[in-house]
Amino acid sequence: MTLAGAHNAQAPVKCIDCHIGAGRKDYLIVKAIAAWDTARWIVGAYKDPKTLRYPLGDRTCLKCHPDGGQNPVVERTFHNAPYHRDPRNGCSDCHRSHLEAPSETRFLRLAMVKPLCDQCHQATLGIRGDRR
Ligand code: HEC
Ligand code: HEC
Ligand code: HEC
Ligand code: HEC
Repeated sequence: MTLAGAHNAQAPVKCIDCHIGAGRKDYLIVKAIAAWDTARWIVGAYKDPKTLRYPLGDRTCLKCHPDGGQNPVVERTFHNAPYHRDPRNGCSDCHRSHLEAPSETRFLRLAMVKPLCDQCHQATLGIRGDRR
């Protein structure tokens, strides 16, 4: 399963609920790209994009997770810790929407996430001289 798939399985979050972005400007741009895609498809030139041409950004996640992923029920979770509320990285640097990953890790991949944890923790410990 993927994070995107889980959104649809656990809650009725559809492709468009993420891919429309978060505001009127996103809406207009996404609609314009979609119209262009349709036009190209009609003339037989459409190719599935491998990456997004228009990044959705944290704002798209924050419209539904306004506290950045805190858990109101379970106390000791990652984003509940004050120092993990603003993890510096973008949501999608850790939470990839379309990569297969186990549900036990909340669809996070160790190989992708751990370097980001380490980067910050080494700086915190002063290993790179940021702080003693
Ligand atoms: C939870 C929000 C979310 C949902 C739901 C979602 N997407 Fe995405 N999608 C993203 C994000 C964010 C990216 C950028 C890459 C990433 O983070 O994995 C992306 C990237 C893509 C891409 C570019 C290729 C790629 O893998 O990067 C395509 C195509 C795509 N999505 C199609 C879909 C379709 C079709 C659905 C419904 C079946 C869907 N998405 C559901 C958030 C979502
Ligand atoms: C349209 C609303 C909506 C959007 C947009 C959205 N989410 Fe979600 N997300 C939900 C709902 C609803 C759930 C299930 C209930 C919950 O855990 O809050 C969920 C669950 C999750 C979970 C827990 C998955 C699990 O099963 O363990 C993660 C992680 C997550 N979202 C990350 C993201 C990220 C990252 C983005 C941006 C790419 C995003 N969400 C965009 C509504 C949304
Ligand atoms: C440095 C990596 C990292 C970044 C960046 C990150 N997260 Fe998370 N996120 C995690 C980890 C780790 C968990 C906990 C996974 C678990 O419970 O095992 C988590 C859990 C979550 C959950 C599930 C919370 C729950 O307990 O139900 C949501 C929702 C979520 N994150 C949303 C976001 C959003 C929105 C952003 C961007 C503002 C974001 N995350 C940025 C690593 C990250
Ligand atoms: C924004 C930088 C930053 C990022 C990114 C980050 N951390 Fe932390 N983390 C901290 C700080 C600051 C503390 C508290 C001070 C300390 O213990 O060094 C901390 C403390 C912790 C603790 C011990 C505190 C406790 O609650 O007992 C654990 C475990 C932890 N982080 C795991 C992780 C994991 C796993 C990731 C990646 C998913 C991660 N951190 C990403 C900054 C970060």
